[in-house]
Amino acid sequence: MKQDGSSAALLAWYDAHARELPWRISPMERRNGVAPDPYRVWLSEIMLQQTTVAAGKSYFERFTDLWPTVTALADAEDEVVMGEWAGLGYYARARNLLKCARVIRDEHQGIFPRTRVELQALPGVGPYTSAAISSIAFDQSETVVDGNVERVVSRLFRVETPLPTAKPELTELATRLTPSERPGDYAQAMMDLGATICTPKSPVCSLCPLQDFCEAHAAGDASRFPLKLPK
Ligand code: ADE
Ligand code: SF4
Repeated sequence: MKQDGSSAALLAWYDAHARELPWRISPMERRNGVAPDPYRVWLSEIMLQQTTVAAGKSYFERFTDLWPTVTALADAEDEVVMGEWAGLGYYARARNLLKCARVIRDEHQGIFPRTRVELQALPGVGPYTSAAISSIAFDQSETVVDGNVERVVSRLFRVETPLPTAKPELTELATRLTPSERPGDYAQAMMDLGATICTPKSPVCSLCPLQDFCEAHAAGDASRFPLKLPK
C-alpha cells in the first residue's frame, strides 16, 4: 500500500512540530516515561467537542486550577461548575462531566478505568472520547477519528465517497494506518497535521510529512477532499 511507512514519517514530524498544549505531554516527556494525566486528557477532549483549541485553552486552565483532580471536580458544587462552563454552551455536556467525575470518585476510587467497556460506560464518554483517552492517556493502540483525521485520511486515499456516508470507510482506513508504536503521540500528530498543515481549504502539502504517501497530493486535487453530500 502506498501509505506504508506513513506513521513513522508522521511521528518524526510530530517530534519536531508537536503543538504545546496545556493538557499534553511532549514527545520527549513521553519518551522519558512521563504519562499524561487521564483526567486532563478527558477534560480537554470533552471541552474540545465544544470549542476550538484556542478558546478551549483558557477554560481548561481555569478548570484545572480550580479542580486539579477528578475527585476535586466531583466534590464541586453543581452551580459553580456550570458557572465556569458558561460560554462553552451545550450544558448537557457539563452535567455529564460532573456525573462522570462522580462515577469515577464513587465507583472507581477516583481512578480512570482503562478498558474500552468501562470507559464507554461513563456518562458522556462515547467511542471518540474513549479512543482519545485510551490512546493519549494510556498509550493503547486505538484510533481517534475526528474531523481532522477524516480530512487527512480522505486525502491520503482519495476517498470518493462523500461524508457522512464515508465515515465507516474513513474509520477503517484510519485504523489501518494506526501504529502499535507510540499510539498516543500518533493520535495527537494526526490532529495537529489536520489542524496546521492538512487544513480544509488550502493544505500546505509542501510542508507535509505525508506528501509521498498521499494520493490526493499526487493527483493534485487535495482540496477536493473530503467530498460532502449537499446539506
Ligand atoms: N482536538 C481534540 N482533541 C485534541 C487534542 N488532544 N489536541 C489537539 N486538538 C484536539
Ligand atoms: Fe494533506 Fe497535502 Fe499532506 Fe496529503 S500531502 S495529507 S493533502 S497536506
